[in-house]
Amino acid sequence: MRTAVYPGSFDPVTFGHLDIIKRASKLADRIVIAIAAHSGKKPLFTVPERIEILNATLEETELPAPCEVVVEGFDTLLIDFMKKHKAQMVIRGVRQYSDFEYEAQMAALNAKLSDRDIETVFLAANPEYQAIASRFIKQVAQLGGDVSPFVPPPVIAALQGRL
Ligand code: PNS
Repeated sequence: MRTAVYPGSFDPVTFGHLDIIKRASKLADRIVIAIAAHSGKKPLFTVPERIEILNATLEETELPAPCEVVVEGFDTLLIDFMKKHKAQMVIRGVRQYSDFEYEAQMAALNAKLSDRDIETVFLAANPEYQAIASRFIKQVAQLGGDVSPFVPPPVIAALQGRL
C-alpha cells in the first residue's frame, strides 16, 4: 500500500491543486490531503471549512487512476502526521523555479526530522495552472474579479458567502 500525503494550506483549493491530486493518484494507492492548521499564514477559511470545500470538490472530480483520497486537518508536524498514516511519500506541486528553493528546504528539513524513510515527490505544475495561487484568488475575488477559470464551483460558493 503506497500512501502519499499531500500537505498544504488549500485556502482555498484551486484547479492547480486538483491537477496535482489527479496526477498523484497515478503514483499512490491512497492520498491523504492534509490541511495544515500551522502553515505560517493567516487563513480566510477555517480548517473544517477547507475540509468541507475539498470534500465537495472531490465529489465532482474524476481521478485518472484508482486511488482512495481522504481529506484531514492536522496541527502537528507533517512528519508526525505521516507516521500516523504510515505514509512514505509527500507530494508537492512546484509552479516555478522560485518555488523550488523553499520546497527543497522543507523537503530536506522533513527528511532530517523524520525517523523513517520518507520521500518528497515534486510534481511540476501544468503550464495551464502555473499562474494560479490561492493568495491571488482571494485578492481577485475580494476585488470583484471572476475566479471561475481558477477554482471549482464549491470554492466560488464559499468565497461568495465569505466576502
Ligand atoms: O501550501 P503551503 O502553505 O505552502 O503548505 C505549507 C505546509 C503546510 C506544507 C507546511 O507549512 C507544513 O508542513 N506545516 C506543518 C508543520 C510542519 O511540519 N512544519 C515543518 C516543515 S516546514
